[in-house]
Order: sequence, then C-alpha cells, then structure tokens
Amino acid sequence: MEEKIPKHVAIILDGNGRWATKRGLKRSEGHKAGFENLKKLTKHIMTTGVEILSIYAFSTENFKRDKEEVDYLMNLFIHGFKSSIKEFNSYGVKVIFSGGREPLSNLVWESMKELENSTKDNTKGILNICLNYGGRKEIVDTTKKLIEKVINKEINIEDINEEVFRKNLYNDLPPIDLLIRTSGEYRISNFMLYNLAYSEMYFTDTLFPDFNSEEFDKALYDYSKRDRRFGGNKKQ
Ligand code: IPE
Ligand code: IPE
Ligand code: MG
Repeated sequence: MEEKIPKHVAIILDGNGRWATKRGLKRSEGHKAGFENLKKLTKHIMTTGVEILSIYAFSTENFKRDKEEVDYLMNLFIHGFKSSIKEFNSYGVKVIFSGGREPLSNLVWESMKELENSTKDNTKGILNICLNYGGRKEIVDTTKKLIEKVINKEINIEDINEEVFRKNLYNDLPPIDLLIRTSGEYRISNFMLYNLAYSEMYFTDTLFPDFNSEEFDKALYDYSKRDRRFGGNKKQ
C-alpha cells in the first residue's frame, strides 16, 4: 500500500500545565518540559517526510493568563530560541514565525528574528511557530494587507481569490493536511482557521510533554487510513 504522508502537519500543543500539576510541580515546569519535547519531536518529524510543521506556542488569548506565567513563557522563548539555534540548524530546519508584533517585548521579538535569520538557509523542512497568534486576527490582518495592495495598485480586486488570500496570510504555506491536538481537548482555540478548512483531525489524551515520536507515528498511521474527499465523491 502506498504510504500517505501529510505534507503540512499542525499541532496544538496542549496540556503542559496539567502535566506539571499532576507531578506536584509548578506550571512553568510543564512549559519547560514542553519546549524540550518540541525540539525532540521536530527532529523526528523532519525525518518522516513531513515538510512543514506548524505549532501553536502562544495564542493572542494566552495574554489573559497570570502575569507570572506569561512572563515565564516570554523568558522561555527568549532563552530557548537563542540556545536552540545550533540544534535547529543540525536538523536542517528553517524556523519561521506566524503572529503579530504587539504587545511582544523587543527582547522576544529580537530572539524570534535571530532564530529566523540563523536558520533561513536550511532546506530539510519548515517549522512554523505560531506565537502571539490568533486565527481570526490573521484573517483580518490579511484582509487589510490585500486592501492596501489594491489601493497601491499592486493587485486588482478581481484577481483576489482563495489561493491569493492564502498566499497573503502571515506566511505562504500550503493547507494543513493533519491537525493534532494533545491533552484530550476537542477544539481549535482560534488556531490556523483558514488553512484548517479541510484538514484531518487527530485528538489524543496524551499531555504534550509526553507526546513523543511513537505517539506522533500513531497519528501518522491513523492519517494514512483516512479517506479525504474534499467534498467530492471520490477518494483523493
Ligand atoms: C499549552 O499548555 C501551552 C500553552 C498554551 C502556552 P497549557 O499551558 O495550556 O496547559 P494546560 O492546558 O493548562 O494543561
Ligand atoms: C491553545 O491552548 C493555545 C496554545 C496551545 C498555544 P489553550 O490551552 O490556550 O486553549 P484553551 O484555553 O484550552 O481553549
Ligand atoms: Mg491548555
């Protein structure tokens, strides 16, 4: 049987807090373990034939959390991104970010730009980190971007179609083939709304810090048995 490997996989990495609480640890320990797991998982995923991995690291709504937790996460991003440049380069992965600038601090923003710049020539795969990301906001921002292009006569209004819209999102990425959410929650939580339109969904109770290579391979196997029809009546 021909193996079906998804080109673009997206993960809503959830359950870091519960993973820590279950062990009597602070929620921040769960975020630390989640970040370490993300690196290991990225290494593995880049060997499976998956070309693009989008991960939900921090939503626009996550700013509603206690200041202590938000501060911890921001520091984890600053130090974690800096210290993992070498590692991401060794996997051959190009890191890009999706999300807005405000209200991130300069230090967070600079660490994101540094990671992007330092990995930009890698060709083995793409890791798209969604940070300060909201799916509705992305659609609104893209609409504004296209209106500006029309005003500046860079594009004609008649030429805007679904594909042009997709290419003008924060990053020009193909639609998502497989969405995974860990921790037993069954919702999208404002993740990549536009590119998720026809994705296959995979939900697991495993908390993200425990979602290892074997768990990921189970999701790939599940995906390989799915029958994607895209609204038609034939297998695609
Ligand atoms: C996911 O883990 C990471 C982020 C949202 C930053 P959570 O922090 O949401 O963990 P739970 O859902 O509270 O267990
Ligand atoms: C979604 O997880 C956001 C990220 C994984 C970054 P949340 O834990 O914030 O989502 P809800 O609040 O359970 O919907
Ligand atoms: Mg959560």
